[in-house]
Amino acid sequence: MISISILGSGNVAKHLWDAFLAQKEVTVNQVIGRNPNTLAHFAGKTNTSQNFESFMDADVYIIAVSDDAIPEVSPYLKNKGGLVVHTSGSVSLDVLADNPRAGIFYPLQTFTKTQHADFKEVPICLETKTEADGQLLHTLASLISDRVYFVDFEQRKKLHLAAVFANNFSNHMFHIAHEICEKNNLSFDILKPLILETSKKIERLSPYESQTGPARRKDTGTLQKHINLIKEENQKEIYRLLSRSIQQTYGKKL
Ligand SMILES: NC(=O)c1ccc[n+]([C@@H]2O[C@H](COP(=O)([O-])OP(=O)(O)OC[C@H]3O[C@@H](n4cnc5c(N)ncnc54)[C@H](OP(=O)(O)O)[C@@H]3O)[C@@H](O)[C@H]2O)c1
Repeated sequence: MISISILGSGNVAKHLWDAFLAQKEVTVNQVIGRNPNTLAHFAGKTNTSQNFESFMDADVYIIAVSDDAIPEVSPYLKNKGGLVVHTSGSVSLDVLADNPRAGIFYPLQTFTKTQHADFKEVPICLETKTEADGQLLHTLASLISDRVYFVDFEQRKKLHLAAVFANNFSNHMFHIAHEICEKNNLSFDILKPLILETSKKIERLSPYESQTGPARRKDTGTLQKHINLIKEENQKEIYRLLSRSIQQTYGKKL
């Protein structure tokens, strides 16, 4: 049996809590957070508290607060004796230097409170200072996920950067597409099969092989027509920049 406590009551805290609560090999001792509204979600099934001085003993403390707040809350755990981990993709293990036993438990997925996450499919990237803590964290992570990896900070930073391109930026492209549809009285639903197919294709083909569109085909007439259709300067710039990047990728002259 592994006992855990969670700091924070946001997106990641909620999804981890849901996943661990369903495991009979794990006891979720406590959720501590500063926000009474979001903390209320955990009450009833788990001890909750707003007092960061009142941690119950646990084998593993999972800090799931905003990146900038990690150094602020981790000192509360420095004398607890358990393994202290945070869930950020872009923050070093050094931020937990006060804690003799420290690690990383980074779930590489986009979490939103209202969307269910199938944790079995969520890659969890781990880092620890000692082999023994690595084994403990691997056992814990493997209870909720089939995709557990050891990834050092240099790689994790790059993974997070790649994830920003793959997820945050592509989602922003969906947002621009959504805006264009709305402004022109078109249902965004018409684009959804295309968006889903774009993602599904990466199971079979590399992104390099999957690329289609006027920039890849070097259809300069169509590219210019699109530029003329765009009203906002910012969107024109994005369109030009991405088209140029696609053309460079496929070795065509601009
Ligand atoms: N969301 C994702 O998709 C995702 C994926 C992988 C990893 N992560 C990482 O997981 C961590 C949490 O992300 P999240 O998406 O769960 O964020 P979130 O939903 O915004 O929740 C952040 C939590 O941190 C608390 N917090 C912020 N500043 C604090 C402070 N100074 N003292 C105490 N508590 C504080 C917030 O409390 P209030 O409600 O009072 O603000 C909230 O409970 C981050 O390190 C993030 O990089 C996120």
